[in-house]
Amino acid sequence: MADKLIIFDTTLRDGEQSPGASMTKDEKIRIARQLERLKVDVIEAGFAAASQGDFESIKAISLAVREPIICSLSRANDKDISRAAEALAGAQRKRIHTFIATSPLHMEKKLRMTPDQVLEQAIQSVRFARSFTDDVEFSPEDASRSDVDFLCRIIEAVIKEGATTINFADTVGYGVPELYGNMLKTLRERIPNSDKVIWSVHCHNDLGMAVANSLAGVMIGGARQVECTINGLGERAGNTALEEIVMAVRTRKDYFNLDFGIDTTQIVATSKLVSQITGFTVQPNKAVVGANAFAHASGIHQDGILKARDTYEIMRAEDVGWAANKIVLGKLSGRNAFKQRLQELGIALESEAEVNAAFTRFKELADKKSEIFDEDIMSLVSDESHAHENEYYRYVSLAQHSETGERPAAKVVFSIEGSEVTCEGNGNGPVDAIVNAIEFKTQSGAELLLFSVNAITTGTQSQGEVTMRLSKAGRIVNGVGADPDIVVASAKAYLSALNKLHSKSDKLNPQI
Ligand code: KIV
Ligand code: ZN
Repeated sequence: MADKLIIFDTTLRDGEQSPGASMTKDEKIRIARQLERLKVDVIEAGFAAASQGDFESIKAISLAVREPIICSLSRANDKDISRAAEALAGAQRKRIHTFIATSPLHMEKKLRMTPDQVLEQAIQSVRFARSFTDDVEFSPEDASRSDVDFLCRIIEAVIKEGATTINFADTVGYGVPELYGNMLKTLRERIPNSDKVIWSVHCHNDLGMAVANSLAGVMIGGARQVECTINGLGERAGNTALEEIVMAVRTRKDYFNLDFGIDTTQIVATSKLVSQITGFTVQPNKAVVGANAFAHASGIHQDGILKARDTYEIMRAEDVGWAANKIVLGKLSGRNAFKQRLQELGIALESEAEVNAAFTRFKELADKKSEIFDEDIMSLVSDESHAHENEYYRYVSLAQHSETGERPAAKVVFSIEGSEVTCEGNGNGPVDAIVNAIEFKTQSGAELLLFSVNAITTGTQSQGEVTMRLSKAGRIVNGVGADPDIVVASAKAYLSALNKLHSKSDKLNPQI
């Protein structure tokens, strides 16, 4: 019988550590619900001690999502662990994930602790975590650059204290598949009682090898849990991409001989939701979830596909949920049909007032655009929840003029804490003009790091989804806005980013 591979999703924790990817509590709940539909085994919902926002999100997800195990990260100290336990109190099944760095470099330069002190702290922490739950994961941070003898000592000790999962972290993406897999194998062979715990892999993608390293950890090292994120989101170059692991294991079952619980038909919907909420767009040639992943451009390939699909396709688009892009509603659809589609998409709006507000926006959109797709609905609900959470600035309307040979000009109306203001500006292009107009009024002084426009669906009728990444005083935020008019979408995205800067929800980074 094939072993089961546990899929541990850390989009809401490690994924959120991507610059600008911070999410609100409501956004995290929406993603967690979708992860439940995807049937992941474990959701790392956040890092409870990092901020009040993280704490509240973990608490809310623990109550809203009942099937997967809900996990909180915590550093190896009593305060963090108590906070994690408190946030997870309502969860049906909970896990505390505690970590401490074990590489000589991290222990000496970052922690300023001796190996014996680190060992003692790890033991105390796992013991303390076990007083709250019998599901405790321990990660030696920067394990792939740690001394094997020291890893053996510390892991043996935490297993004795009751750790149930040991996560072999390639924190800085330094691993090479064969070496990473063999190092894990050595640990499993040398450590007494290693067969009593689940071994896990956690890889970063700095050298583009996170997926390969994770799979080597599984095949050579014997890991049976993979930590990953949707779209490979995460610190720096990101984490192991969930969709790539899952489809590799499924497509090459002949080699991996592993089972998992994931419903692969939910992959594309999950990818789109995460991308749309975080503003991290998916590159077209990204494996499995990129827009071109199943597009065949060359004549020879198209001919082959028409004759026999498997000539050039190793996976079917519908198996990962690509076929789900369908027209669902139109101008004449009523409130009940809209509400039902929200339910089918797993979107639970909290009150009837919120459903009404979203329905009004749907009608406005249907006036501009005859075919409304699932992606449109997801985007308008997202806009709606932004509007409720961060209402400091709110888009109202704009007028914009461009003509060949003339400098584009814009007039933007938006509200600041509920009071409407009008501002004018001009610029090199229409988007520059609206940004200059908004800046004239807000004087944020933020630096624009990224401006990207993406079509949400196909065709020129599609809504444009704009991401604006702003940086100010060391903080980086992403604002997202969608509208059939990409200049309007840009204004919404800019204001959404300013709202995030204004909300000042700073938090600790677990790697610090
Ligand atoms: O990359 C890392 O080491 C981590 C740990 C906290 C598991 O994210
Ligand atoms: Zn990590």
